[in-house]
Parts: sequence; structure tokens; C-alpha cells
Amino acid sequence: MMKIIFHPQTLRETINQKRKENKRIALVPTMGNLHAGHLSLVEQAKQKSDVIVTSIFVNPTQFGVHEDFDRYPRTLEQDSQLLEQAGNHIIFAPNVKTMYPNGMPPLIEVHAPLLDSLLCGASRPGHFTGVATIVSKLFNLVQPDVAIFGEKDFQQLLVIRRLVSELAFPIEIIGAPILREANGLAMSSRNQYLTAEQRALAGKIYQQLCVSKNWLLAEKNNTAEKISAHCQQAAEQLNQLGFQTDYYEIRRQSDLQSPQVEDKELVILVATKLGSTRLIDNLVLSMGDQV
Ligand code: PAF
Repeated sequence: MMKIIFHPQTLRETINQKRKENKRIALVPTMGNLHAGHLSLVEQAKQKSDVIVTSIFVNPTQFGVHEDFDRYPRTLEQDSQLLEQAGNHIIFAPNVKTMYPNGMPPLIEVHAPLLDSLLCGASRPGHFTGVATIVSKLFNLVQPDVAIFGEKDFQQLLVIRRLVSELAFPIEIIGAPILREANGLAMSSRNQYLTAEQRALAGKIYQQLCVSKNWLLAEKNNTAEKISAHCQQAAEQLNQLGFQTDYYEIRRQSDLQSPQVEDKELVILVATKLGSTRLIDNLVLSMGDQV
């Protein structure tokens, strides 16, 4: 029977008991309003652990002042049903006071300055500080052996990997592949803000990413200028369809800096708005791949 826990003390006691039984613990951090993409994270957790803890917490400190914190859907009952069916064992669903007992912003935060100043970090000041701080706290509360994050938030996953390595959390981090709708749209809780028409159009983001991937693989010796011109053109094409593109970039996977000729592991990243809904997506590629 799945447990829903609201208080850190109960969580600690439950997890301590599981540890005494030599169980391996997995954490799946989420903000709730779960879809098939989240359930695939639980599926990955199953392969790697005996006890799965899914946290559900809409973290205020990672939202900007004009962002969607207030309207972000809170659907604990529906999420619980989905998680129980998926074979999750514990839901940890704390409230804001529990996670920020001394108020907000907290006096101590975790920063990732280099990653925070580019791409989503540049457009959403403070976002990755909010993420790194809350994830550190969840790691300390749950003390998992393994934690699973979606690859859709590529930059977030990189921030978490660096967090774990630089602050020496003894946790294995697993990235789970992006799940897509039939038209290619990456699954996201924010997709439900879209009208049916916008949802259909949003499939063009993935199509454009595939065009860029094929272009990169066909044009092996690209210069920085050609890459930048390609990205600008891709952004313009999306904008002509009705998107407002925040960035469309080709970067290297390891640190999200602009690729040098010798870099082989690349990622194409996009953040674009349809109406007031901000969508992000990415496509990884290795320059050794076939077109
Ligand atoms: O990816 C998310 O849902 C959130 O950023 C996370 C990792 C749960 C932290 O609040």
C-alpha cells in the first residue's frame, strides 16, 4: 500500500526503517500534475531500487515573479492514483512552510553561477538557484541511493549532475529520455495550458530540432558563424509560425558552452513561447551518428 507523507520526521522514520531492511532507495523529484513522462521516471526508478519515493512540491523559489506559480496545477489526488498504479511506494508532499521553515528567500542557497547565466538561467533569473536549493534539501531529507530526472530539462539535469559531483552527494543521477506526444511535442505539465490548435502547432518545435540535427550531421565541419546563422534561421522559422522564441542554440553537452570543432557530443536546445506558455525542448546528438 502506497504511503503519502507530509512531514520530514515521518519521512525519515519510514526511510530509516527501509534502510535497516537493506533496501535501495530511489527519489523521483516532481512538482506533481503527473503525466506519462513522470511515470517513465518511476519506471526507471523501479529498475534501480527497492523503494521509490516520489516527491511532489511546487517549489516557489524556482518561479519568477511573473511566472505561473499560482496557476501551476495542484492535483495530488489524481497524482496519487497514477503513482499507486505505477508501483510507487512513498509520496512525499510537504508544504511551503515545511520546506522553507524560516521564510523565503532562504538565507542559505545553492548557486550554480556559470550554468545559471546562460540559456534558461539567463531568461529566468534565480530559477536554477531555486532548483539546486530545493533538490539539495530533498536529497538531504530522503538520502536516496539514486535519483531520476527527465532529460527534457537538459540544463536542469546538468545543474543537478554538477551539484552532486561538486557537493559530494553520494547519489547516482539518472537522466530519463524525453517522452513525446504523437506529433513530437515533448510531454510537459505546461502543455495543458495550450489550446488544441496551439498543441497541434507545438509539434513544429520537434520537427525543427530534427531539421537541425540532420543539418549538423550532414555538414560535418561547421564554423561557429554557420552554426549561429542556422540557429537564427531556425528561430525565425518558428517565429513565422506564431512562436516567440527565447533561444534556439546548439551547444556542447558537457557544459552548454558553444561547441568547438573537436566537440562531438552536442545538444540543440530551444525555449519558445506559444501565447503565454513557455515550452522547452532539446535533441542530443553525437557527431559520429548517421544522418
Ligand atoms: O523538474 C521539476 O519538476 C523541478 O524542477 C524539480 C526537479 C522537482 C525541483 O523542484
